[in-house]
Amino acid sequence: MSITVTRRADLIKRAKNSFRDAFNGKPDMLVAAPGRVNLIGEHTDYNDGFVLPCAIDYETIVAIGKGEEARIQVVAGDYDNATDSFDPSAGFVHQETEWMNHVRGVVASMNSRGLTAGGANLAIVGNVPQGAGLSSSASMGVALAKALAEHCGLNQIDATEYALIAQQSENDFVGCACGIMDQLVSARGQSGTAMLLDCRSLETGFVAIPDDLAVVVVHSGIERGLVDSAYNERRNQCALAATHYGVTALRDIDSDRLISDRRDLDDVSFRRARHVVTENARAVAAADALAVNDRETLSVLMKQSHRSMRDDFEITVPAIDSLVELIGNYLGLRGGVRMTGGGFGGCVVALVPRGILEEVTALVEGGYQTPDGGKARIIICNPSNGASVLRQVDP
Ligand code: GLA
Repeated sequence: MSITVTRRADLIKRAKNSFRDAFNGKPDMLVAAPGRVNLIGEHTDYNDGFVLPCAIDYETIVAIGKGEEARIQVVAGDYDNATDSFDPSAGFVHQETEWMNHVRGVVASMNSRGLTAGGANLAIVGNVPQGAGLSSSASMGVALAKALAEHCGLNQIDATEYALIAQQSENDFVGCACGIMDQLVSARGQSGTAMLLDCRSLETGFVAIPDDLAVVVVHSGIERGLVDSAYNERRNQCALAATHYGVTALRDIDSDRLISDRRDLDDVSFRRARHVVTENARAVAAADALAVNDRETLSVLMKQSHRSMRDDFEITVPAIDSLVELIGNYLGLRGGVRMTGGGFGGCVVALVPRGILEEVTALVEGGYQTPDGGKARIIICNPSNGASVLRQVDP
């Protein structure tokens, strides 16, 4: 059995056990939704731009079954089987415990779209590393939306809408002003590919990732601190820069206009805008390069992306810069490396030819120390399918 299959089998077992212990029965359905890693196109999604993420083989599984008439009862397998219970037709009531807000937020978002979930019993388990920038929350939101919709027979919903429901839940109820990238690739990713997403039209294109190129995620060991406030600050700066240029979103200007219409735009706002404008172009160019397996171009684009995040968008931290440099110096033009995700800690993503994977792993283990003096966690990801209903497996 492959590691991906074994990992999923373990999750399924945990989901069923939690379900059985809490509700004394078997679920009717299991739904899985993956986390993601973004190859390039950072902080471009909320600027209506382009991103190139792939779904990964770390995921959230929701087991769902019939419950009381008008009650949603949930057990969180990863939090000591803690439980929550609420009336899905009542308005959203904020909870102190974050995972509860995700469940209640998805239900409230569905309600606001006229999609009324009835009663259900749910067990949630997941193996997406948390606080790493691999979108454990998005995978949970999408899994919940799909599980509830399928269970309640709301089959007019397509994959994009699951993503929008999960994003709305984060934006309006959990309190995170994220864009659409994470949820959309969790809902619509395709195995073996990266997804070029136009975050304005929500059109997608899939680009095969060559088999001999490994998607390697290295967790710096730096938990992402101050994420929300810094993330929101960047969003506001981008919106103000778009206003300066007289456009709906920074997606609407190119490098020429960036310069020609700069006028009195201050240095910080200009650099924020420059990151977004150049990063959009890089995401599209990287999809083209990947499609023809042009590793040198990919390598250069990822390097430029990291520099732009470091110098213009200012979302990297010194330890991550050094990790990127360590890996990048070794890879040269054979592969690419950059920080991935919202920033201020979290992970680095590298595209590494499988032939030198062991050397790169050894290099990171020997040459990088996490803040507490340990080794970085290295996660080799398989580009995976988006959310799906799993065939029911016997207990
Ligand atoms: C977080 C958000 C995404 C995106 C990235 C940065 O992951 O959830 O919407 O903005 O940061 O690219």
